[in-house]
Amino acid sequence: MKKRTRLGHSGRNPFENHGIVNPPVNHASTILFPTVDELLNRYKSGDYQKTMTYGIRGTPGVFGFLDSIAELEGGDRCIAYPSGLSAITGALLSFLKPGDHVLVTDSAYEPTRNFADGLAYRLGIETTYYDPLIGADIASLIQPNTKVVLTESPGSWTFEVQDIPAIAKAAHAANCVVMLDNTWSGGLYYAAFDHGVDISIQAATKYICGHSDVMLGTVVCKESHFKPLYDTWNQLGLSVAPDDIYLVHRGLRTMEVRLERHQINALKIAKWLEAHPAVDRVLYPALESDPGHELWKRDFTGASGLMGFVLKSKSREGLAAMLENMALYGMGYSWGGFESLLIPTFPRKFRTATTWEDKGQCMRLHAGLEDVDDLIDDLSAGLDRYMKY
Ligand SMILES: Cc1ncc(COP(=O)(O)O)c(C=O)c1O
Repeated sequence: MKKRTRLGHSGRNPFENHGIVNPPVNHASTILFPTVDELLNRYKSGDYQKTMTYGIRGTPGVFGFLDSIAELEGGDRCIAYPSGLSAITGALLSFLKPGDHVLVTDSAYEPTRNFADGLAYRLGIETTYYDPLIGADIASLIQPNTKVVLTESPGSWTFEVQDIPAIAKAAHAANCVVMLDNTWSGGLYYAAFDHGVDISIQAATKYICGHSDVMLGTVVCKESHFKPLYDTWNQLGLSVAPDDIYLVHRGLRTMEVRLERHQINALKIAKWLEAHPAVDRVLYPALESDPGHELWKRDFTGASGLMGFVLKSKSREGLAAMLENMALYGMGYSWGGFESLLIPTFPRKFRTATTWEDKGQCMRLHAGLEDVDDLIDDLSAGLDRYMKY
C-alpha cells in the first residue's frame, strides 16, 4: 500500500476499542495487576515497550502513535519525547558517554549546538562541527573515539542538502551511529533508513502535528539501535502526555495533503522571490537554482514549506516596516503549522566550521496553507516597505 493510504490506517484498531475510529486516550499513572504472578512477571512476555506497567511508559493510544510513526519512516521502533529538542538530546545521550566525540553539522538547529556546547561538554563529550557539504570527507574528521555523526538535511536555517549516503558510508566504516534531524521532510519526503541513517529524529511539533499547538519529538530506529535509546528515555523519564500524543496522531492523518499544499505554495513563492529585485538568493532545494537541487532530486520525494532567502541589503528599520505590518505572515520561531511565518535569521552568528558569506539580511519563510496568491501579495507589499529603507 502507498504511504498516503497507510497514514490514514496505521496505529489504530477500531474493533479493539469498541469500534471507535481513533485510538483511545487513557489518562493513567497507576496500572493495576489482578494477580501477584502478573505483578511480578510483568515483563516476562511480550514486547517490553508496549507492556502496561506504569503510566510513564505509555498506554494503548500512545503505542498506536509509535507504530504509526515507525511505519511512516520505515523503521521498526519509535519513541516519543516531550519536544523535538529532547528527542535530539535523548538520542545523543543514548550513544555518547564521557570521553566520546560527536560530529555535528554546522547547519544544525541552534539549540542542538547549545546542548553540544553545554550539557554534553560538561559531561566530557567533545563536539566537532563540520561543513554540511562535507560528504565522504567526513572520514577525515572521525577520531578513534567518535561515536555519533549528527546530520540535519536540509539545515533548518540555511537549507544545505547533505549527502547522507556518503556521510553514512564513511561513518559506518568507523562504527559510528548516524543520526538525522528529519523534521523538514516530515518523515514523508525523505526515507532516512534507505539512505543509511540509523536514527531518524523529528520535531513532531512541526509537520506531523501541523497545527502549532503541541510540543512533541519522535525518534525512529531499527531494532538494532532500540535498546540504548529506550533505556536512556526510560531512565530520564521523558514521558509524553496522552492528550498531546492524540492530537499529533490526529495531525498525522492529514499530513500528506497538508505537505502537498505547503510544497505547491512554497515553490511558487520561492520562484517569485527569486525574481524579486530586493532578493539576492533563495534557499530552497526544490528550486533548480539551489546548489542542493541535484542531491535533493536524487534523495527526496518532495519539499516542504520552509525556505530561506537573502535580501540584497540589511536594514533594521526596513525589517520592522516589513515584518510588523504583514497581514498574513506571523513572526515566530517555529514552523510546520497551517499558518505562514516570516522571521529574520542570523546564520553568521552561530557558524564555526564554515563562514556565512552573504552580506544581506537572511530571512526564513514558512509557506502555510493559505491561498498562495494572497501570500505573494502580502510578501510583495512587505518587500515594498522594506525597499523604502
Ligand atoms: C530542525 C528542528 N529540529 C528540532 C527542533 C526542536 O523541536 P521542538 O521545538 O519541538 O523542541 C526544531 C524547532 O524549531 C527544528 O526547527
